[in-house]
Amino acid sequence: MRRLRHRRRCGGDEGRLPSLGRGALPLLCFIWLLAASSAAAQDEVTIGSTKSDKEVEYGEPTEAHTDGRDLPKSNETLERRITVLLDEMLKSHDKRIRPNYGGPPVEVNITALITTISAVSEVSMDYTLDLYLRQIWRDDRLAFPSETPMSLTIGIDMVNQIWTPDTFFPNEKKSFFHEATSHNSFLRIDNHGNVLRSIRLTVTANCPMSLHTFPLDTQQCALEIESYGYSTKDIVYHWHNNESLKMEHGVYDGLAHFTVGKHFQIEREISTSTGSYSRLTAIFNFKRNIGFYLIQIYFPSSLIVVISWVSFWLNREAVQARVAIGVTTVLTMTTLMTSTNGSLPKVSYVKSLDIFLGVCFFIVFASLVEYAAVGYMIKRHRLRLANGTSAPSPVTYFESETSPNLQPANGRMRNGSNRLRRNNNRSAKSSINIPMDHLDAEHIVPLLVAVPVTRRPRFTFRPAQVDLASRILFPLFFVVFQIIYWYWYFFSTMGSEYKEDRGEDAP
Ligand SMILES: *[C@@H]1O[C@H](CO)[C@@H](O)[C@H](O)[C@H]1NC(C)=O
Ligand SMILES: *[C@@H]1O[C@H](CO)[C@@H](O)[C@H](O)[C@H]1NC(C)=O
Ligand SMILES: *[C@@H]1O[C@H](CO)[C@@H](O)[C@H](O)[C@H]1NC(C)=O
Repeated sequence: MRRLRHRRRCGGDEGRLPSLGRGALPLLCFIWLLAASSAAAQDEVTIGSTKSDKEVEYGEPTEAHTDGRDLPKSNETLERRITVLLDEMLKSHDKRIRPNYGGPPVEVNITALITTISAVSEVSMDYTLDLYLRQIWRDDRLAFPSETPMSLTIGIDMVNQIWTPDTFFPNEKKSFFHEATSHNSFLRIDNHGNVLRSIRLTVTANCPMSLHTFPLDTQQCALEIESYGYSTKDIVYHWHNNESLKMEHGVYDGLAHFTVGKHFQIEREISTSTGSYSRLTAIFNFKRNIGFYLIQIYFPSSLIVVISWVSFWLNREAVQARVAIGVTTVLTMTTLMTSTNGSLPKVSYVKSLDIFLGVCFFIVFASLVEYAAVGYMIKRHRLRLANGTSAPSPVTYFESETSPNLQPANGRMRNGSNRLRRNNNRSAKSSINIPMDHLDAEHIVPLLVAVPVTRRPRFTFRPAQVDLASRILFPLFFVVFQIIYWYWYFFSTMGSEYKEDRGEDAP
């Protein structure tokens, strides 16, 4: 209770003092302000009076005063004039109705400047490009009177208040505007009512690719431009002139694995169930750079094929070495083929690269099989020898029995043959005089050896012959294949250039 009372007193005391202050301060302030303002007014008046005095002296009473503010004022009036003009423009403008309504279709002219092309992808079958898309059309409702040719560049906000064509890209997958630092677009209106709208876009467009000749191919990708809603009765698109489609220079260096070739612009009409629409098409040619594939695939796989031939020069008895070379090269080729096709779409037809790798694989595989065949022949040969010792036959009998005696006989044989020649020189009949021991060595041995040869099937080869033939046939086949392959490559690229030329004429 005491505390409360005390508070009340204090509160009362405090309350009284400020209440007095509240009443007094505004009053004081008001008085002070009045005084100050009156003083300022007096100053202004004095300054103004001095100026006006001078003006009076120069004989320009009131006009001079406005003249001093004329510079900004004239600008202001221009501004105001344009504001009024735009307001009037928009007041009478119905953005729901196209220009020339009921009359001939609006001509919308297009120009495009391609700044970059990136990510031409055969996996997703698309490509991405950055471009400035400019649309030019004439809207008489936006014409304004002006003595001199004049164009107004207006903020993008106005785009929402006037009619614009509903252009879209029929083959677009995704695209976006650029918003840094503000929406990258502008609108320009000239006094005749020609409207230019420029937008910066990044478009990822669909591009179906045929990979039959991959990686020796040239791809054609299109960017299509069409009105979404207005048929040819309302909008007709045109390329602004015959060079409306332009590339910035950086485009040509921007793609690593393609060379950007010629580009074309086409105008045509597309019929759908909702009517016929005017469509513009820009066509770009991308020629694949072979360098990467030469270095990464063609050269290594050719070397692997060459390595597999080393086996033909190795000893036939070196089973481990020859099998190791064969198996390793086959496995390496398999890996190369798998990794190459891993980065490509899973198409169900044969590509040029598949042909090359397939042939390489075939050669490598064949050289492994060749050694298997050689090994088999050696084995059969040994078997035959082994059979010979167990079951006596005239051949093996001779070989096994007389082979130790052959060596000295050979020595005599040479002497004998020398004699033979000499005898032959003298007279044909003298050959009869050859001693029997020489006959033994020279004539009987081949005769007896010839017996089993006639018994064997005719098509058998000796293992050494197979290796010898492989040493020539394998490289020959590969070289011929390479010549045909690359000849066909150059032929096909010439064909694609021809196609490019035809593309220009196409409607
Ligand atoms: C408008 O103002 C600019 C400077 O802001 C000036 O250079 C120009 O002369 C002015 N225009 C007129 C018509 O006075
Ligand atoms: C559009 O381009 C054509 C030529 O292709 C030209 O005749 C026409 O005047 C252009 N229209 C506009 C509005 O620029
Ligand atoms: C484009 O038109 C100009 C004249 O308008 C002409 O000189 C030029 O040859 C044309 N270019 C092509 C590629 O037709």
